[in-house]
Amino acid sequence: MSKKYDIGLGHNDVTLRKKADSDYVSFWDEQAQNLSWFSPWEKILDWNPPFAKWFVGGKINASYNALDIHQATKSDKPAILWEGENGDSKTYTYGDLFIEVQKFSNVLKSLGVQKGDRVTIYLPMVPELLIAMLACARIGAIHNVVFSGFSAASIKDRIDDSKSKIVITSDGGYRRGKIVKLKKIIDDAIKDFEFVKHVIVLERTKNEITISSKDKFWSDLMANVSSSCDAEKLDSTHPLYILYTSGTTGKPKGVLHETGGYLTHLHSTFQWAFDIKDSDVFFCTADIGWVTGHSYVVYAPLLHGATQVMYEGAPDFPDMSRMWDILQKYDVSIFYTTPTALRMFMKFGDDIPNSFDLSSLRLLGTVGEPINPEVWKWYYKIIGKEKCPIIDTWWQTETGGMMISPLPGLETIPLKPGSGTLPIPGVKISVVDEFGTEVPPNIKGYLTIQNPWPGMLQTLWEDDEKYKTVYWSKYPNCYYAGDYALKDEDGYYWILGRADDVLKIAGHRIGTAELESCIVGDDTVAESAVCGIPDEIKGDVIIAFVVLKDGIDIDKIVLEKKLFEKIRNDIGAIATPKQIYFVPKLPKTRSGKIMRRLLKSIGSGELIGDTSTLDDVSAVTEIQNIVKQQS
Ligand code: WTA
Repeated sequence: MSKKYDIGLGHNDVTLRKKADSDYVSFWDEQAQNLSWFSPWEKILDWNPPFAKWFVGGKINASYNALDIHQATKSDKPAILWEGENGDSKTYTYGDLFIEVQKFSNVLKSLGVQKGDRVTIYLPMVPELLIAMLACARIGAIHNVVFSGFSAASIKDRIDDSKSKIVITSDGGYRRGKIVKLKKIIDDAIKDFEFVKHVIVLERTKNEITISSKDKFWSDLMANVSSSCDAEKLDSTHPLYILYTSGTTGKPKGVLHETGGYLTHLHSTFQWAFDIKDSDVFFCTADIGWVTGHSYVVYAPLLHGATQVMYEGAPDFPDMSRMWDILQKYDVSIFYTTPTALRMFMKFGDDIPNSFDLSSLRLLGTVGEPINPEVWKWYYKIIGKEKCPIIDTWWQTETGGMMISPLPGLETIPLKPGSGTLPIPGVKISVVDEFGTEVPPNIKGYLTIQNPWPGMLQTLWEDDEKYKTVYWSKYPNCYYAGDYALKDEDGYYWILGRADDVLKIAGHRIGTAELESCIVGDDTVAESAVCGIPDEIKGDVIIAFVVLKDGIDIDKIVLEKKLFEKIRNDIGAIATPKQIYFVPKLPKTRSGKIMRRLLKSIGSGELIGDTSTLDDVSAVTEIQNIVKQQS
């Protein structure tokens, strides 16, 4: 094994792994004691497959662990160093956040929000987003944050499914210098929803908005409210949040995370992976609208009383130097970003990062998609100057926190570019074949998780059956992650992409079924199939194949534009295909299943392989010709 990347931060705690391997349940019991509990649990784990309850009987509060516990020692320490896309900046200390969160908790209470109620939050990356989430957590309301790039139709589904009484939004948000009118999107989304009682509007961009009887301004509500609100003593299993994510079935699924187990997972992984110290400045570039933002912008750094940078806008705005400028300006020591962002930076060359002082960096991380070894090496050399370990962290919305990652805060192991290395202690991963049998080293198989873990989702919102079928039906009592992986001869894991119909575009999850049903929703379209093809920057981009209804005669350019528009309106810009191909028929098996694998090969100009199960081989030649003509 190459020792080239064998850099560590001086930690080598072998006892922890030993403990975790011998008894993962009591291992997590010890880890949970790092948090502040109002009362201890009676049972560490209640495992009634596939439902796990962690720290049963224990009472805890996420907001209390993020804020109250730091007041005696860190009330003047910056928690958030916020930078707006337009150059605005603001610092919130732990003391400031504590006051703002208590005030906003009282606002929510005054509007009738009670324990267990759902609150949808649709805000740009501003500190008030984090304040609103912590206020929900403080009073036991369940937050449902929706990424501010999603469209009215997407947010409508999420508000409806969660039956949120309250929606929190802003007049607008900045993105690449333009204003995205979020309030208008909410107006469209909730117009038929009687159950939404109030809309709280934060003024960020001061663009004109329409005001209705449900609307209340954030600043008015906060003006005359008490700044004292005790944190509710909640059950460890009390739901903390719903986060909708795309899956293999049509509509996004409401992943439900509970409190005690989730916080334990985050507290431990943040320490092990990032080796967090009081003097660090942490910067995770994820939007809070995604799970990385929930776990490693909001909860984990605050549990540790860390200082972090929060950035509002696009990483390449106004130009490619923005990220490096932020790292230099705030003396960032730990930087956590995506392979897509790194591929983009790398494309613009070394001179831009080289012209900044990045010497404060000591640890680098990536998340969300596989990282190409050459990009890893660039990150290591040009950004980390060959002195920072890189942690390639594999996990999912459903896992709550990191599951496979190098852990420089715990141990020193050789790194391999492109591999997430080993599972975290207390988590048992296995790569298996179709029948659930573990495959030998270096053979591709399906990634599974063999034991329950504290950060795991509790269920899907109001859909236990779907929870069982999606994650626990392929293999008995074992979690199916939906990813291909292999374990090499050193026991290191390599993630090889999705094994199901979920696309990862620039690190974002998009369900093929969701996108196809949107396209088929147009009255000219009979059938559609979408797939991902490799892209230099985004990892994958989407291409769509569309069969029109009989007798439809329409200008293809006009229709393509119309379909792009529909996708942007129904889902959001992130789901827009690179290209739509209008084809006479789709390649199907004799049993009628669309062969997406073939479409993917055709779209990426590869050999198409075995077509023996195809119903009609002529479909393939026709599609190949169309793709050639249009590409
Ligand atoms: C992919 C993001 C390779 C994977 C935290 C997973 C990765 C899906 C990595 C979850 C990584 C995440 N290497 N692939 N380090 N991290 N993935 O729910 O396909 O948005 O199943 O959570 O992202 O995406 P999600």
